[in-house]
Amino acid sequence: MPNFSSADLVELFRRELELCKVTEGEQLVILAEPSSRSEYVEAAFAAGLALKARVLQAVLPGGSPVPLPSSRTGSGAGLTALDGSPLALSLLQGADMVLDLTNEGFIHTESLGKILRAGTRMLFVADPPEVLARNVPAAEDKARVQAGAALLRAGRELHVVSPHGTDLVADLTDAHPGFQCGIADDPGRWDHWPSTMVLAWPKTSSGQIVLAPGDILLPFKTYVRDEVTLTIENGRIDKIAGRGADARMLELFFEDANDKEARFLSHMGWGLMRNADWFAMALYDRESLMGMDARGLAGNFLFSTGPHPFMDRHTHNHLDIPMRGCTVAIDGHKVVDNGTLVEENA
Ligand SMILES: [Fe+2]
Repeated sequence: MPNFSSADLVELFRRELELCKVTEGEQLVILAEPSSRSEYVEAAFAAGLALKARVLQAVLPGGSPVPLPSSRTGSGAGLTALDGSPLALSLLQGADMVLDLTNEGFIHTESLGKILRAGTRMLFVADPPEVLARNVPAAEDKARVQAGAALLRAGRELHVVSPHGTDLVADLTDAHPGFQCGIADDPGRWDHWPSTMVLAWPKTSSGQIVLAPGDILLPFKTYVRDEVTLTIENGRIDKIAGRGADARMLELFFEDANDKEARFLSHMGWGLMRNADWFAMALYDRESLMGMDARGLAGNFLFSTGPHPFMDRHTHNHLDIPMRGCTVAIDGHKVVDNGTLVEENA
């Protein structure tokens, strides 16, 4: 395993900031909290200077609105300090680019929308150095995910099946197709390094999802061991069946959440990240890893539960569940075939 010294990290961040088109004279804010990886803050600062950007570092107090440890879970609950600080918010709104090195990011917060609407672009980085290095985006990844998003935009329904019995149809009407490619290079754009995925926010879906052994439950960062069948009606998990520990755990999760929004499906889509490692999650301390390898792996099917910004659902109870071996089709056009990514121009 490479030893990422400071010099290696500076070069890594310089390449990434170049992909994000950070140029001379741009205002770059490095956003952190006290427990952020200090070596990332230092490397990003140096990388920004190397590109002759006007670099500023902002450290906000840690602490999130979620009454649980929220480090690299993917719920993106944000820092309460930002919610309470108009000064910090205006700083981020005034930047050309924000490099978000907080532990959890702002993925599902209302603050994020306020920052992006001001024209600031933002890149979130939370995974360990080796994961970042293995998954440095290629410039063409943006076109790849945009092609997938265009299919979703033109499509009427997304159909996912698997040999284990998954058979779900999601309505793509007004489903706000989106993508992540690890590059934030347009004004008002948010992205996440590493990530290469296409997703939509269906307002309704129905059928069943069968989680198979080896699939992954995030944020628990565990591999499914026993099949779990989720019955979906009107975009909501109506029933959880299965005799193993995973079915029981999911049932308890929703019970404990005691949140009527938690059982609804959230975003869904597929991964295009070719260098992703499904087993990275087994090799790192849980708190140190966001798990973007699992979320972005080329040929996965990723669905999630809880928040839905286009239906005004803002719950923090967010599960991301990437699955292997599925076939995903948009109006009959396969984009993933038995767990293998299908790309026309690949
Ligand atoms: Fe998610």
